[in-house]
Amino acid sequence: MLKNIDVLIIGAGAAGLICAITAAKRGRKVLVIDHANKAGKKILMSGGGRCNFTNYFIEYEKYISKNKHFFKSALARYTQWDFISMVEEHDIPYHEKTLGQLFCDNKSKDILNMLMNECKTLSVELFLKTTVNKIKNNDKEKVFDIETTLGNIQCQSLVIATGALSIPSMGATGFGYEVARQFDLKVTETKAGLVPFIMPERWLQQFGDLAGTSLSANVICNKQAFRENILFTHKGLSGPAVLQASSYWSKGDYIEIDLLPEKNAQHWLKQMKIEKGDTSLSNVLSLVLTKKFASKIVDLWFQNLPIKQLPDTDILLIANKLNHWKVWPERTEGYKTAEVTVGGVDTNAISSKTMEVKSVPGLFFIGEVLDVTGHLGGFNFQWAWASGFVCGEVA
Ligand code: FDA
Repeated sequence: MLKNIDVLIIGAGAAGLICAITAAKRGRKVLVIDHANKAGKKILMSGGGRCNFTNYFIEYEKYISKNKHFFKSALARYTQWDFISMVEEHDIPYHEKTLGQLFCDNKSKDILNMLMNECKTLSVELFLKTTVNKIKNNDKEKVFDIETTLGNIQCQSLVIATGALSIPSMGATGFGYEVARQFDLKVTETKAGLVPFIMPERWLQQFGDLAGTSLSANVICNKQAFRENILFTHKGLSGPAVLQASSYWSKGDYIEIDLLPEKNAQHWLKQMKIEKGDTSLSNVLSLVLTKKFASKIVDLWFQNLPIKQLPDTDILLIANKLNHWKVWPERTEGYKTAEVTVGGVDTNAISSKTMEVKSVPGLFFIGEVLDVTGHLGGFNFQWAWASGFVCGEVA
């Protein structure tokens, strides 16, 4: 039996490691266990291998949760600047890629090494390949008894940092939800987020050969708009704007794509009629879209006449399609490729200041296991750091 552990953290990911560091700095005896053979696997694979570890512009509108206020307190107490300071103290080179997104210049490993080195300096213990069989709340002694493959562990504070369902091959499990249910906490409906769409067969017959084509667009799903690139794939649609929209999408919803986000297509086409009347529609559209995509949509939807021959009624139809192209995805690629899980442990049962379960003193949930999901761009790691930090300050 391992006794005298102050804080047991299950899950050596982003949230678990920062929580361990914060608690250990307070002099707490911290043990982290993980069933994987390596800590921080998602950190390593994140950001295309360069870890988009935070964003200069952490705004509350960039987070999705049933409880729209829950995440504010933690994000205000541990900000992007706090994490950037840590990165700078460790001399990790980084850069802003786009839209405030901060990436490592070298590899994601820099971020994981930083966290692991801090853990080591602070004598945080880490046991990998360790599975939890049973959790018991020993009310009388005010401790938790945890049965693991390593033996029994007794701790004062128990932190669930096991993440969510995305990428099962990386060790993702629904373990955190099971623990929540054991303690009578609700789990909101979960679905894959930041994930590519699979389009219906008929659509793929029309657009499948555009795989690899990327366009700048404005993608709208359930009133949320994302102005970034879209990417045609063999299975359907991806690219940052589409991934962002997927977090707001449910089965049966359509997404609307504005192919000319900077233009009122009707005004512009009328202007082209005056300026380039003899040019074919396909060539006119090639001025603002890729040639391949322009000729594809003209073939499918319109007549490739010299633009001056198109009546205003046709111009209106074409413009409407360009600014408001509606597509109905069949499904998403699911947890297998999703960057995040939308939904999770219901935050109404959790203190927004400490991440402690209100009805079970000493039990905490942090990171992605909770019903808090960020947009693409470093927002999910910032939530992991912030929730892990505020928990580590009290656990
Ligand atoms: P995380 O999943 O990181 O850690 C959970 C840990 O718990 C894992 O080590 C796991 O092995 C362990 N565990 C699970 N079940 C267990 C059990 N039953 N027993 C013991 N241990 C268990 N975000 C971002 O902001 N910027 C980015 O660049 C990216 N990029 C990115 C790429 C890809 C491909 C993915 C899949 C995800 C991203 N993300 C991202 C999202 C980001 O990785 C994610 O939000 C955080 O890793 C969540 O941190 P957590 O610590 O909550 O869970």
